[in-house]
Amino acid sequence: MTQNSSAEQEFFELSQERVQSRESRTFVRNQWFGLLFCQFCLASCITGAIMGLGYYFLREKPLATQAPLPCLSPACMRVAERLSAVIGPQPCDYFQFICKAEISAKSSGKHKSIIISHNVTGTEEVRSGVVKGGGRRTDSESDSERKSDHSLPDRQTALLEAIKEILESPKRDITRAAQKAQMFYNTCMRSNNTLNESIYNAQTLIQQFGGWPVPVGWKQPELNSTLALLMSKYNTFSFFNVYVGPDQNGSKNYIQIDQPEFQFPIEWNSHTNRSKFNSQSLRPFFSSCRELLTLLDVSFISSTQHCGLYMSLSSTLVTNTSPHSHRLSHNLLYHHITIQELQEMAPAIDWLKCLQAIFHPVPVSKSDIVLLHNLPYIIYMSETISSWRQTHEKINSFPLHSFMIMNLLQTLMPALHNTFMPTMKHFSLAIDNENEVVPGWRHCVLQTVKGFDLLISHLLKDYYVDKEGEKLISDIYNTFKTKVASLNWQNKDTQDFMVNKIKSLTPRLSTNSELFSQLKIDEHFGEVIMSEKLYFSNYLQMLGLQQKMRSRMLTQTEQPYTDVLSIQPIFFGNDIIIPVGMFVSPQFHSSYPRAVNYGMLGTLIAKDLLHLLLPDILSQSESAVLVSECVWSHYLKTQKGTSSLSPSQQQEVWVQYSALQVALLSYNKSLQRNSNDTSVSGLSHTHLFLASFIQASCDSGSYKAYLPFEPSFLVTVLCVNSVHCPRPLTCVDTRSQRQLSTLC
Ligand SMILES: *[C@@H]1O[C@H](CO)[C@@H](O)[C@H](O)[C@H]1NC(C)=O
Ligand SMILES: *[C@@H]1O[C@H](CO)[C@@H](O)[C@H](O)[C@H]1NC(C)=O
Ligand SMILES: *[C@@H]1O[C@H](CO)[C@@H](O)[C@H](O)[C@H]1NC(C)=O
Ligand SMILES: *[C@@H]1O[C@H](CO)[C@@H](O)[C@H](O)[C@H]1NC(C)=O
Ligand SMILES: *[C@@H]1O[C@H](CO)[C@@H](O)[C@H](O)[C@H]1NC(C)=O
Ligand SMILES: *[C@@H]1O[C@H](CO)[C@@H](O)[C@H](O)[C@H]1NC(C)=O
Ligand SMILES: *[C@@H]1O[C@H](CO)[C@@H](O)[C@H](O)[C@H]1NC(C)=O
Ligand SMILES: *[C@@H]1O[C@H](CO)[C@@H](O)[C@H](O)[C@H]1NC(C)=O
Repeated sequence: MTQNSSAEQEFFELSQERVQSRESRTFVRNQWFGLLFCQFCLASCITGAIMGLGYYFLREKPLATQAPLPCLSPACMRVAERLSAVIGPQPCDYFQFICKAEISAKSSGKHKSIIISHNVTGTEEVRSGVVKGGGRRTDSESDSERKSDHSLPDRQTALLEAIKEILESPKRDITRAAQKAQMFYNTCMRSNNTLNESIYNAQTLIQQFGGWPVPVGWKQPELNSTLALLMSKYNTFSFFNVYVGPDQNGSKNYIQIDQPEFQFPIEWNSHTNRSKFNSQSLRPFFSSCRELLTLLDVSFISSTQHCGLYMSLSSTLVTNTSPHSHRLSHNLLYHHITIQELQEMAPAIDWLKCLQAIFHPVPVSKSDIVLLHNLPYIIYMSETISSWRQTHEKINSFPLHSFMIMNLLQTLMPALHNTFMPTMKHFSLAIDNENEVVPGWRHCVLQTVKGFDLLISHLLKDYYVDKEGEKLISDIYNTFKTKVASLNWQNKDTQDFMVNKIKSLTPRLSTNSELFSQLKIDEHFGEVIMSEKLYFSNYLQMLGLQQKMRSRMLTQTEQPYTDVLSIQPIFFGNDIIIPVGMFVSPQFHSSYPRAVNYGMLGTLIAKDLLHLLLPDILSQSESAVLVSECVWSHYLKTQKGTSSLSPSQQQEVWVQYSALQVALLSYNKSLQRNSNDTSVSGLSHTHLFLASFIQASCDSGSYKAYLPFEPSFLVTVLCVNSVHCPRPLTCVDTRSQRQLSTLC
């Protein structure tokens, strides 16, 4: 208790040093006090944990002068709530905070643990999880592992929630385009078409493609035309995938042709280098496929045939698909080739016709370069189409057509009546966790994003990123530049190269490009007609919008397309694109104290920049090795253990520690510009910054597996003797404090 009091005393003596005017002080104190009381009441309703803290301040009120005004926005209240679960009444509790407390999340309250204990045995700690196998790419990887115990929602979910908020916000003075997006979302949420309507809609569309093949008297539509129509108008890529993106140097957008995605779990055999479907999933799929066709009035015999052919052709095609890692090691990615050459290698497809349809009205010619990501598959696919066509047409069976119609149905499935749901579950076995019920809003947000990504990026910026956000990017980048220049590089050449490279790059927000001008956006969505009621017809419009976006990207050769759901910076030419999706709470909010924004998003961006720009820093700068070893030696002084760090751990320790330094210096710079900053939970400035850093660091990014201790330990090291930290923060366990005297 006496110890507590002296720490508090010290903390408030520090605050008192900043006192300037007695009058303003009284005023501020009164006002602040009222607000604090409010905050106190509110917060205690949510959790009792803050009580200690509130009490702590109330008791000390005569000293709490010139304290920054508390931030009482709803976003700040949520920060306060989370902090209260993390910190106790003493500032020193930070250092004992453990991210992954193994306490059940239900008893969420205080998760205070006494010591940092982590069994580190060199490489042992390096968990896999960064590398994912599998032959298919999904745009939304499951993030169920990401549940953090301290109620920071994972970043992807937070972003989806932010988009939901925009889509559900009452229509005020929003643009026509935004109204359309909201209308789409609303019909998705309240989609109430009857089963009969759904059946009718699906059947009508299938008829447009020539209907189901029947053995007698059926004329097969031309395959190339069917394929082109499916891809261009219905966003359905049966035999291969087509998208637009930069080449590996990230300097220009190209048409990219890839292996298709299959709706089954795929197994990769690394001995034969072949893929196959997981045989267990085929049986339930087969029966749900038949159920689906029965719903659509296809006879039992025919449905058995269509489903059988569909699955057998899929199983054949899949053999030559391979996971990314294999294609990378065999140089199968980013294969430059002209459309003419492609036509010669894979003649069963009319490539020019298909690509022209997909990118209409952008001209595509035979001499254009496309990038292939699995040439052997494409050749094999072409051979398979030819041979299947020849053998099956003799016996009046049309597997290629059945295959394409089944693919179309898969595309339509999300917009059909919920009787189709159980079937859909099996169809998307490979994507969704079987038992996980996708909440309606999440599904609808994802669907809306597919058609309206461009607009939603724009809206995200309008709603969430203010000047402060852009300032944060430039502050972090400037400090980052200084940091890189000050490193001890192995030789002059490396140093010059790195410093010049970093100087030549400009960080910018993903929406700061020509693509996002209001005019262009209105024009882009101008022809789209959204219905107030009919989700199915809106859904078809959305499929068309995806084509529109693709062709638009192709004309923007100098502009990157950043997925609106992206939360990681990327290179594009001389730019570093910071996705606008990073700027949503809990990592960032315009009402937050800057301490929170810099402590959370600031460190995240700094970390991403370090990973992006200095992928092999350890081999090039001795600073990185020295710093990581210094941090680690501090750890070994407080914890018993003798092990040394693996190179990836060394790297990560350096990255995280440097990110913390960069963000703190940037925050300091921002304070020098304007010393005004608000507070949360009675914490302010550096104190609040560090608390926020610890919170954000618990968000398990993919690299966190390599960090051999709790992120809060970095604060301990940073604050040893450091001018960066307010004095009372150097209250590491007094035993070890004497030992921790060198600065890293
Ligand atoms: C740490 O982990 C190693 C290997 O997993 C194990 O042998 C050792 O007993 C553990 N040490 C402690 C203190 O748990
Ligand atoms: C669907 O919902 C809308 C509004 O919620 C209603 O006007 C319409 O009649 C409903 N349609 C059916 C088929 O229930
Ligand atoms: C749906 O269609 C079937 C057959 O076409 C018909 O018997 C049934 O009455 C229809 N149901 C509704 C609700 O319209
Ligand atoms: C892209 O990078 C590759 C190798 O990294 C290089 O060979 C090629 O010339 C580069 N292309 C451009 C356009 O810079
Ligand atoms: C499969 O690929 C590996 C390298 O990834 C190679 O060493 C091996 O020879 C290949 N096996 C076959 C059967 O081609
Ligand atoms: C598609 O078009 C190409 C090029 O005209 C042609 O060689 C091929 O036979 C067509 N494919 C089918 C299945 O009709
Ligand atoms: C500091 O913040 C307060 C409250 O937000 C504001 O009234 C005041 O003008 C600010 N002062 C400066 C120097 O920005
Ligand atoms: C932070 O800014 C203050 C001036 O406001 C300066 O005196 C101090 O040295 C800075 N701290 C660091 C670590 O740069």
